[in-house]
This record gives sequence, structure tokens and C-alpha cells, in this order.
Amino acid sequence: MSAVSSPKSPEAVTLESVDLNPYIGTEVLGLDLSQPLDPATIAAMRKLWLDRTVLVFRDQDITQEELLRFTGYFGEVGERGLSATVYPSTAGRVLPNIMLISNIRENGKTIGALPDGEMNFHHDMIQTEKPHIASVLYAREVPSHGGDTCFASGHAAYDTLDPEVRSKLEGKRVFHTYQYGRTKRGDDSGTYDLSDQSAHPAFRTHEENGRKAIYVNRLMSVGVEGMDAKEGEALLNAVFDHAEKPEFVYCHKWKVGDLVIWDNRNSMHARTDFPSDQRRLMWRSQVRGTHKPF
Ligand code: OGA
Ligand code: MN
Repeated sequence: MSAVSSPKSPEAVTLESVDLNPYIGTEVLGLDLSQPLDPATIAAMRKLWLDRTVLVFRDQDITQEELLRFTGYFGEVGERGLSATVYPSTAGRVLPNIMLISNIRENGKTIGALPDGEMNFHHDMIQTEKPHIASVLYAREVPSHGGDTCFASGHAAYDTLDPEVRSKLEGKRVFHTYQYGRTKRGDDSGTYDLSDQSAHPAFRTHEENGRKAIYVNRLMSVGVEGMDAKEGEALLNAVFDHAEKPEFVYCHKWKVGDLVIWDNRNSMHARTDFPSDQRRLMWRSQVRGTHKPF
């Protein structure tokens, strides 16, 4: 009789990792994402991600297929938000569901989305009914400085929000819109589709950890349901100013080969400015939303 070897239980794997901020962000060491990960490692990685919201992997050398395989460990791979009609030269260059984020121009046209400069804090796809739960960026070319991606913990901001502001927004829904290409609040450039609007609770309960997080952002949140526009704007601004405080934020300084995955349910992110004459190229993938936010 031969012994049957049982698969390793998730507890059997402890990932080596370093926290990057008390509230958000952890670097995972020792994983090579060009290789498939075993179930116990995947379980440990997912657990760490749910706990820390943002995971960073450095020095990765992976293909687009390998990026999508990694993305699939976190759920169903989601469709890219920008259609090939908006960024035509993306078509044929990347696998379906991989998006280029880039300022590189060929024949005067950008090859990717969100090309230039600074971007306000936002939750990806919050303007839709079931926003993506996660996004992944993998750096291929980076400028010499700037173009950092900054992640703010929605849990930390919720837990410390002024109780008066919190009670006025608790139970309320907030409207969101997005014009593709918009990078700053109120900027009217970019293309707009009437379907790109939504209403979601001001504070979102995370389906997997049960904690609440602020779920409004400077880029896309435009008003509070049933509230006078001025009063709503003042309250939203108070939340933005609080939630963007540096103590709740981890800013990632990119190197080529860095891969970052973030949870869009309990964090928002922004980008710092960078020199327009230097190339920046990221591959991006996303994980489909499973729930309407509640
Ligand atoms: C995104 C995004 C920021 C960046 O891809 O959703 O916000 O740093 N990118 O390019
Ligand atoms: Mn984004």
C-alpha cells in the first residue's frame, strides 16, 4: 500500500512579506509570478491581500498570459474598461482584457489610456453597477521620477472620520460619473457615455472582511442622493480631505518589473505628476465585480 500524499493546507504556507504602511500595502517576497502558484500559496496570498488591500511584487518578468493567470487567482478576469474604439491602437497589441496605461505616442496618437500626468483619487469603475473588485498594474517602462501610484485605505479613513460628517452620510447613496480620460475633478474633457453613472452607498461594507470603508472619491463622486447640492459638496469635500491624508496613504514608486494588485472595494488610488517627455508604460488587468456595493 502506498501512502497518499494530501495536498498542503493553506496554513502550511507562510509568505515572506514586509508591510509598507500601517494601514495599507505589503510587499510579498520570494514569489516568481512567471510560474503557476500552488493552491496553498494562492490561499495565503489572497488572505494577505484581503488583510492588506494592496500587494506589491518586485522584479517580475512575466508575459501577458502570465499576468492574466495571476489576475485569475483573485476572481474572474474582468473586461477592460476602455473599448478598442476609444484607444484603437491598443487593439492587436495586447490580449483581450489587458489594457495599456501609457503616454507613448505613435503617429501622434497615444497607444494607451490615462496617458499624462497627475490623477485625482478614484475607485476604478465606481461609475458602474458592479465595479471591478481589483485592478493590477505591471510596470514595463517608467519615468526617472514621478508617476507614483498612491493608495489610500478606505477602512482607516472610515474608522477615523469626523462622527458628525459620518452620521450625515451614513445610509446615504452617492452619485458617481466618469468621463473616460478625465483625470481631475470637474475636468470636462474626455468622452462620456450616459451609462457611465451610478449610485452606491457612501460607505461600503467589504463582502469578505465585513468592515466598512469610505466609498466616495474626488475624481468621480458628484453628489449625495436627496441632499442639497451645496451641502452634499461640502460633506464630500470633507471626506476627500480626510481620506487623502498622508498617514492613510502608501505611494508606490515604480521600477520596471513591479506588479501591484489593489482592492477597489476598500481603497482608492491616485497618480502623481511625471515628466511628459519620458515614457511610461504599464500593463493593466482587472477582476470582475461580484456584488452590487452595499
Ligand atoms: C488605473 C490607474 C494609475 C497609474 O490604471 O486605474 O489609475 O499610476 N492608473 O497609472
Ligand atoms: Mn485607476
